[in-house]
Amino acid sequence: MSFTLPALPFAVGALSARGMCQETLELHHGKHHNAYVTALNGLVEKNDALKGKSLEDIVRLAYGKDDLQPVFNNAGQHWNHSVFWESLSPNGGGIPGVLEKKLVEDFGGVEQFKEQFKAAALGQFGSGWAWLVLAPTGKLKIVKTPNAATPLATGEGKVLLVLDVWEHAYYVDFRNRRPDFTDNFLNRLANYENAAAKLQKA
Ligand SMILES: [Fe+2]
Repeated sequence: MSFTLPALPFAVGALSARGMCQETLELHHGKHHNAYVTALNGLVEKNDALKGKSLEDIVRLAYGKDDLQPVFNNAGQHWNHSVFWESLSPNGGGIPGVLEKKLVEDFGGVEQFKEQFKAAALGQFGSGWAWLVLAPTGKLKIVKTPNAATPLATGEGKVLLVLDVWEHAYYVDFRNRRPDFTDNFLNRLANYENAAAKLQKA
């Protein structure tokens, strides 16, 4: 069975009033993400050892293996983008009490969390991702990864929220201004409800 592009959990134009326009989502979801899914299916088709495996298994299995780097890149990007769409909301930016309490406990406050997350998003040189994860220690932690790398493979924690900081994520809306894109995400787009639900399930 081949992998398929997941539908966006909101209408393609639903974020346009909050700093992510329809053109961005049509390109990012419909072209970039779709291309990773198509490429992954082509690679799995040619590799019997990967056939029938889950996306998560393929990401973990291919991580750090030179001969499987194209598989890792496309599988990682498919997984990362799937989590990214869940990290966005047309009603984003509001932090539920259960998550706020944990952010205060582990970072000292909501503003401190946002500062650390922004530092990770801006500190990721070139393409990559900024993540809020629940570390194996039970504490929330900010992680950044390059290119297709993902906490799913590195074991740094269970992912609660992610921001794509590849240029294709922000160039239409914010040109080269990654700091503004990150602020807009943290304050107006981030689906903290989804993050809080994942925290409670963990
Ligand atoms: Fe992306």
